[in-house]
Amino acid sequence: MAKTSDIANPRLADAGRGRIEWADRDMPVLRAIRERFAKEKPLKGMRLGACMHVTTETANLMRALKAGGAEVSLCASNPLSTQDDAAAAITTHYGISVFARRGEDTKTFYRHLNQVLDTRPSITFDDGADLVSLVHKKRTDLIPGLVASLEETTTGVIRLRAMAKDGALRIPVIAVNDADTKHLFDNRYGTGQSTMDGIVRATNALIAGRTVVVAGYGWCGRGFAMRARGLGANVIVTEVDPIKAIEALMDGYRVMPMGEAAREGDIFCTVTGDIHVLRAEHFRVMKEGAIVCNSGHFDVEIDLVALRKLSKKVRENLKPLVDAYTLRNGRTIYVLGQGRLVNLACAEGHPASVMDMSFAVQALAAEWAATRRKKLAVQVHEVPKELDARVAKVKLETMGVRIDRLTPEQVKYLASWQMGT
Ligand SMILES: NC(=O)c1ccc[n+]([C@@H]2O[C@H](COP(=O)([O-])OP(=O)(O)OC[C@H]3O[C@@H](n4cnc5c(N)ncnc54)[C@H](O)[C@@H]3O)[C@@H](O)[C@H]2O)c1
Repeated sequence: MAKTSDIANPRLADAGRGRIEWADRDMPVLRAIRERFAKEKPLKGMRLGACMHVTTETANLMRALKAGGAEVSLCASNPLSTQDDAAAAITTHYGISVFARRGEDTKTFYRHLNQVLDTRPSITFDDGADLVSLVHKKRTDLIPGLVASLEETTTGVIRLRAMAKDGALRIPVIAVNDADTKHLFDNRYGTGQSTMDGIVRATNALIAGRTVVVAGYGWCGRGFAMRARGLGANVIVTEVDPIKAIEALMDGYRVMPMGEAAREGDIFCTVTGDIHVLRAEHFRVMKEGAIVCNSGHFDVEIDLVALRKLSKKVRENLKPLVDAYTLRNGRTIYVLGQGRLVNLACAEGHPASVMDMSFAVQALAAEWAATRRKKLAVQVHEVPKELDARVAKVKLETMGVRIDRLTPEQVKYLASWQMGT
């Protein structure tokens, strides 16, 4: 058991360990890194502080970092994403401090972030830039001791780039999200599948024949649209970027403004990283029984304050994590997971086999930063390409898939400019 922790129920530790081991079966790349780390101890003597979704997959990342010789502490990056059994197992069986309780209020959420920062970490891991933001706003005394911070998600990277542009960034950060082996797979296939999983677990709705509206056709939106179509939905995409909109159209989806889609949709999912994508003007025209959810990072994509103002009655937890808003026009709109990430609030988050790559990148990026200690420039760094390629290569090997190699003639041809017809 770790020295300090704040978790909901230590008695869940054994159940959590079983699920962590189950996830580990599907995380062979991260497992190989853990085994190497256990021998080489590349993180020896370092204190690492993580603010991530407290799931079984994250547990395996924490185990790998600890095997590398680091002292590790973890808090949640979302009040509704914590799996209490995983939290209990991480602290009880793997000796890592965890500060996370599912459903914690905002005050507790920030107390937990501060408890991780109290360990004076030299590397932080964020999923949404909450730790970095707290360090820059209130815990600036920690800045001299910080080697780097690693960022897991699109919204976090966007914020960090905005900080760098404003000259406000004071520590080196690594955009793990932007590694190819992260966003091409985690955001697309992970979010795609688990978002649908969250909707189905919360509602048990039949997707076939329904009109599903996807707001945002980025990596996550594409994945979700693909899965909704696969289950037989009629999919509408809304976008603000003309290129993404053409892509959605040529992928075979209907594209229109939300003002029009709002009248047609049965199920709505926002995945934009933007604010108030669904708002009063849309709620007013939605059909009776419309289901609304979000899989973007923050709970700001659906304007729940406006929805409440339009409502004459709100029944919370009509069934777990389904709130019913009855509008003054008599129609009822159902909101899943309080507008927070539906895949983590209502299901288990991404499958382990896709988090295998994301977290392998995290572990290798931490090692990369640790070996450079104070030599990294204060900026947003890309994950080195060779590291990304290494993760892809090992993942393919673990899947038993072989690919071709360039012949010497092809290497020469691809580097030449003289040869033509
Ligand atoms: N649920 C999860 O587990 C999970 C996993 C990964 C990423 N995320 C989060 O999901 C969000 C999207 O990530 P991504 O990687 O797909 O980003 P992305 O940048 O690839 O895509 C976002 C898309 O939304 C579009 N958009 C922005 N404002 C819009 C609006 N008002 N209406 C319609 N479209 C709009 C953008 O043009 C863009 O195409 C981010 O907040 C990210 O942090 C969630």
